[in-house]
Amino acid sequence: MIDLIDIAKRFDGNGAPALDGVSLSVARGEVFGVIGPSGAGKSTLIRLINALERPTSGRVEIEGVDVMGLAPGGLRTLRRRIGMIFQNFGLLSSRTVAQNVAFPLKLAGIGAADRQARVATLLDRVGLTDHAAKYPAQLSGGQKQRVGIARALATGPDILLCDEATSALDPEATRSVLALLRQLNQELGLTIVLITHEMDVVRAVCDRVAVLDRGQVVETGTVDAVFADARHPATRRMLAGLDA
Ligand SMILES: Nc1ncnc2c1ncn2[C@@H]1O[C@H](COP(=O)(O)OP(=O)(O)OP(=O)(O)O)[C@@H](O)[C@H]1O
Ligand SMILES: [Mg+2]
Repeated sequence: MIDLIDIAKRFDGNGAPALDGVSLSVARGEVFGVIGPSGAGKSTLIRLINALERPTSGRVEIEGVDVMGLAPGGLRTLRRRIGMIFQNFGLLSSRTVAQNVAFPLKLAGIGAADRQARVATLLDRVGLTDHAAKYPAQLSGGQKQRVGIARALATGPDILLCDEATSALDPEATRSVLALLRQLNQELGLTIVLITHEMDVVRAVCDRVAVLDRGQVVETGTVDAVFADARHPATRRMLAGLDA
């Protein structure tokens, strides 16, 4: 469903590239993890998928379509198909939970009555029906991320990109958000690309994983295989961090 084909990304002429010869394929319905240390290029990689970044060379294809070849209308359609959630939730603090979730629907030109119905369904799906009228500051971290998830799902995407979505959460909230992501993957067939620097997040929720180190994919495979037989020093370092 998502193919990254020999991607290089340079932000400036001389420095080391953020991404260097990255090729990856994510299948429909998969939860695919990308793990790596700080600065490895994880956020850059995920931002290429919804064309927030442009590769210096190589291609990103969604179902065989080169995202860089899309006209503005095609790009808008693509972005409605791809939801994204972030470490710091990205919620509007002056708007209620319901208004935050309604926001992308408003942008998409959906009328008030349809918006309200859709927001109710989304809040029910993430377990926040009772919190619709609250403001983000009145919520726990886990609840804020559930709002982020509901908002990301508002336009009915079939891909969800998660950039360190649980990194600001305590272990219990992390478990509950990961369980929700798994549930959405299974019930909606949502394809999920999940970026993290935590091995236990990958272990909890991913089907396959790629290890990114200094802009290169150094290891890729099923989570079981990569955990059982880590070959690259970067993978071993991260496994050691988990055990420490
Ligand atoms: N907009 C930008 N302009 C210049 N350099 C950038 C930009 N975005 C990222 N970089 C550089 O690209 C490299 C990879 O950054 P990226 O944010 O993708 O790493 P990351 O793996 O997400 O790290 P972290 O775990 O800390 O979030 C870094 O060296 C970073 O400084
Ligand atoms: Mg990052």
